[in-house]
Amino acid sequence: MSKSRYHPLSIFLHWFVFILIIAAFIAIELKGQFLKGSEPRELCKTIHGVFGQLIFLAMAIRLMVRIKYGVPEPTNRKAIVNTLAKTIHWLMYALLLIAPIFGILYFQYAGKAIHFFGLIWPQLLTPNPEMKKFVEGIHEFLGNSLYFLIGLHALAGLWQHYVTKDDTLRRMLNKVKAST
Ligand code: HEM
Ligand code: HEM
Repeated sequence: MSKSRYHPLSIFLHWFVFILIIAAFIAIELKGQFLKGSEPRELCKTIHGVFGQLIFLAMAIRLMVRIKYGVPEPTNRKAIVNTLAKTIHWLMYALLLIAPIFGILYFQYAGKAIHFFGLIWPQLLTPNPEMKKFVEGIHEFLGNSLYFLIGLHALAGLWQHYVTKDDTLRRMLNKVKAST
């Protein structure tokens, strides 16, 4: 694999996860429009949970692709910028894998069914309202931190495209020719 390009699967998964995160965000924000305990509110949580589980799977595959094929060298010559970008990338990997686990724990402690395309998770934990509140807080914190990091990351990507005018965004869109 050339050092100037991302693996096509990395590119596909990058934008696929982007769409999934928007979908998960919309579903959980819609939840707030409905009364507590109502059917549509529970449905929003279920849909959010399905997108969240897909995010986990996509990120796990993406991590394996990254480990196997690597990523191209950074386009920016400033070491501090590269370190910051790398830190944010790894934080996003970590949070996108950890946040869904806390979402699953929430459902388990709430004693509610977790749906995934016709499958239903077995109840593995004893329902516990205190633990439910605790993991809910962690899940929300991780989710909101993610939205902040993603916003920062997207702004940096757009900055490099429109201000610095380098190939960073183009290569994540598979629009750059391999030079090596
Ligand atoms: C759901 C939101 C997003 C997540 C979780 C995310 C995550 C990541 C991660 C982890 C990388 C590192 C490369 C890799 O391992 O695949 C990356 C690279 C990149 N992302 Fe995103 N990203 C998101 C949205 C966006 C958006 C909206 C843009 C548009 C501006 C963008 C632009 C880029 C660019 C240009 C790179 C390449 C960076 C480089 O080559 O140094 N990303 N993204
Ligand atoms: C990376 C993936 C995920 C992200 C970014 C995420 C993000 C969030 C955020 C920010 C909230 C708080 C929304 C608010 O009330 O303002 C939330 C709530 C929730 N999430 Fe996730 N989530 C993810 C995955 C999951 C998964 C996999 C599940 C379960 C299978 C799940 C279940 C829930 C539930 C049930 C709530 C609502 C809790 C309540 O009633 O207040 N999430 N999520």
